[in-house]
Amino acid sequence: MPRRNKITVVGAGNVGATMAHWAVQKHLGDVVLVDIKEGLPQGKALDLSEAAPVMGFDCTLTGTNGYDETADSDVVVITAGVPRRKDPETGEFTSRDDLVEINRKIVGSVTREIAGRSPNAVLICVSNPLDAMCHVMLAESGFPKERVIGMAGVLDTARYKYFISEKLGVSVDDIHGMVLGGHGDTMVPVPSHTSVGGIPLTELMDSETIDKIIHRTRKGGGEIVGLLGYSGYYAPAASVCAMVESVVRDRKRVLPTACLLNGEYGYENLYIGVPAVLGKAGVEKIIEMKLGDKEKEMLEISANAVRDVVKLLPY
Ligand code: APR
Repeated sequence: MPRRNKITVVGAGNVGATMAHWAVQKHLGDVVLVDIKEGLPQGKALDLSEAAPVMGFDCTLTGTNGYDETADSDVVVITAGVPRRKDPETGEFTSRDDLVEINRKIVGSVTREIAGRSPNAVLICVSNPLDAMCHVMLAESGFPKERVIGMAGVLDTARYKYFISEKLGVSVDDIHGMVLGGHGDTMVPVPSHTSVGGIPLTELMDSETIDKIIHRTRKGGGEIVGLLGYSGYYAPAASVCAMVESVVRDRKRVLPTACLLNGEYGYENLYIGVPAVLGKAGVEKIIEMKLGDKEKEMLEISANAVRDVVKLLPY
């Protein structure tokens, strides 16, 4: 009997639960929410299920603290992890190295649980530090690189496009562009390939305004943390939902995706955000776009920042 797509979301926190919300509202498939906290995934799944008669979706939601319910998923989104926290005694934030060590263990164990039960799934990483956690998922799953990807570029690009549309007073639908590179302060927005209704951005905005937008995009995550005291989740959840949709509906959208590069853009064995065609098989193609000298330089800085974190991993 034909069945609906099956989407597992590990981590029923802010990003995971919001992602589940949009996935069922868009009728993308049945959703299994997994979390280590007892009651949390069950409660979120039940609360969302009770919205079904009002919102008019038929997709089912299951909440669990185990993995058997995730078997044979088509797509698995991993948001499990801990954020950087301020130590109440010392006032210091978790160091990057400590965060890598903590999240590496969480993402590694989650990936092993998932991979054994859903050997054909496309895995999408959301946990930070994003590019390094993609390396963990690739190593621990043993999956081909086409089926292990990360979400960062769609979010960074969404922020970039929103800031442009806000500045120009035009619809977000008419802004096209990409943010490449690693997820972090060194990400690479590409103004040379950004257009507004087909018109190059550089004809509509002076370079000083573009630079301000690039700066705000790079600090976009921090801007939200500064306001809320914790990370944003609407835009991250919407971004991962766009990737899931492209996979389960085989839309073959061209989305900036953290992919393992093997020669593309001149990089070897490194996860970096690049334009990729996403379909049922995961990454169906990596598109190499022409970059200007300044953009290439920025990509190199970004790649070095990713390498510095990947070096901390035992692979
Ligand atoms: N297995 C399953 N779930 C886990 C595990 C684990 N081993 N460890 C932690 N979790 C769950 C937490 O219980 C929590 O509910 O992951 C969830 C993370 O949710 P939030 O703390 O709300 O974080 P969120 O804002 O959703 O961010 C998700 O995105 O930006 C990245 O690194 C960040 O890892 C974070 C992820």
